[in-house]
Amino acid sequence: MTVDPVSHPAPAPVPELFTWEFAADPYPAYAWLREHAPVRRTRLPSGVEAWLVTRYADARQALADPRLSKNPAHHDEPAHAKGRTGIPGERSANLMTHLLNIDPPDHTRLRRLVSKAFTPRRVAEFAPRVQELTDGLIDRFAARGSADLIHEFAFPLPIYAICDLLGVPREDQDDFRDWAGMMIRHGGGPRGGVARSVKKMRGYLAELIHRKRAELPAEPAPGEDLISGLIRASDHGEHLTENEAAAMCFVLLFAGFETTVNLIGNGTYALLRHPEQRRLLQDSLAAGRTDLLETGVEELLRYDGPVELATWRFATEPLTIGGQRVETGDPVLVVLAAADRDPERFDAPDTLDLTRRDNQHLGYGHGIHYCLGAPLARLEGRSALATLLTRLPDLQLAVDSGDLRWRGGLIMRGLRTLPVTFTPVG
Ligand code: HEM
Repeated sequence: MTVDPVSHPAPAPVPELFTWEFAADPYPAYAWLREHAPVRRTRLPSGVEAWLVTRYADARQALADPRLSKNPAHHDEPAHAKGRTGIPGERSANLMTHLLNIDPPDHTRLRRLVSKAFTPRRVAEFAPRVQELTDGLIDRFAARGSADLIHEFAFPLPIYAICDLLGVPREDQDDFRDWAGMMIRHGGGPRGGVARSVKKMRGYLAELIHRKRAELPAEPAPGEDLISGLIRASDHGEHLTENEAAAMCFVLLFAGFETTVNLIGNGTYALLRHPEQRRLLQDSLAAGRTDLLETGVEELLRYDGPVELATWRFATEPLTIGGQRVETGDPVLVVLAAADRDPERFDAPDTLDLTRRDNQHLGYGHGIHYCLGAPLARLEGRSALATLLTRLPDLQLAVDSGDLRWRGGLIMRGLRTLPVTFTPVG
C-alpha cells in the first residue's frame, strides 16, 4: 500500500474487538491488526491479556512451536483473573486433561492411541451413515418450505455422527444432544448449567467405558466403535487410564461438534450470499462431479471457518513471534480467521472462490495438534452441503443478513440461527 507523504493521513483508529459488530464481521478488524499490529497484546472480555497472532506466516510458525505449551499450568495467571480466565482446564482437571490441553510425551501417547482407533478407513466406512443422517434430517422439514438450518440440520447432524462413532447407544443420543446443546449455547466455559451438563456427560461416559470394557469381545468385530477400540488399544500394552479415556471421548465430542455445526452453518450462509459460486457448485453436482465440492469445502473453511482462534497456548520460555517478544507464561492466541485472509499468502483473500487451488488454509490448525477429525469433518461438510443444495435447489435466506446473530464465544465462529425458505418438496 502506498501512503501519500504530503497529506499525512491520520492513522486508522484501533478497531474495537469483541463487540457485536465485530462478531458479525471481524475481518476488517483483522486486516487492521495484520497490517498495523500483527502480534498484539490484547485484553479479552474475561480480563485476561493474550497475544493475538494474525499473519499467516507467524500463525503457522506459532502453531508448530514447541516452546508454546498447551498445558494451562504454564499460564502466568494474573491475580485479578483468578478463576475467571475462561481458559478450559485451568482450574479443573479430569475431562479437561485431553489432547488440546497437553504436550508431548503424553500428547504423543494419547494421540497415537486414538489415531489407531480413528483411522481414515473407519471414517470412510461411516459415509453411508452420514448420508442417511443428512437425508433423514432434511426429510423432517422438506415439505414445510422453511427451516432454521442451525437447529434442525447443522446442530443434530454432527452430534448423532459422533455418538455413533463413539458407540453411544441410539437411545441415549438425545441426552447427549441436550448436554452438548447446553454447552454450545452458553459458550463452553465450565460454569453453571454448563458445569452440570459436563458433570452428567462425565458420569455417563465413565459408566459407558466401564460397561464396554466388561463386555469387550476377544476379537474386534468389523466396524467396532471408537470407545471399544480405545479400550482395546489401551489393553494391549499402552496405558490409558479410565479418566484419559473419558477425556478423550469428551474432546472428540467437544472438538467435533460445534466446529462441524459451524462448517455447515457458515458454509451454507457464505453460499447463499454468493449466488454465482453457489450456482457453479450446483451445476457441478448436477453433472455428477465432486471436485468442486471438495475444493469448495476447503475454501469455505478458509473464507469463514468454524474456528476463529486456535485454542490457548502458553510460552514456556521467552520467544519472538513476528518480531515481538513474548515472555514466559504469556498466553498466545493464533487467529486462524485472520491468517486465512492474509494477502501475503492468498490471492484476493476476501473473495470466495470455490475453485481455489493451493489452498493451505489453517482452518484445521497445523503441527502436532492438527485436527484429528478432519476426515470426518470433510465427510460431514461435503455430505451436508451437497445434499442440501441438491434436494432444496432454490434455498434462500429468510431474513436480512443484518438480522442474523453470531454466537459470542472467543474461540468458535458460528451463527445462532439460519432461517431459510425454499419450494416445499416431498
Ligand atoms: C483439533 C478444527 C472437526 C477432533 C483441531 C484444531 C482445529 C480444528 C483448528 C487445532 C486447534 C489448536 O491447535 O489449537 C476443526 C474444524 C472442524 C473440526 C474446523 C470442522 C469443520 C473435528 C471433528 C473431530 C475433531 C469432527 C472429531 C470427531 C479434533 C481433535 C483435536 C482437534 C481431537 C485435537 C487434536 C490434538 O490436540 O492433537 N480441530 N475441527 N475435529 N480436532 Fe478438529
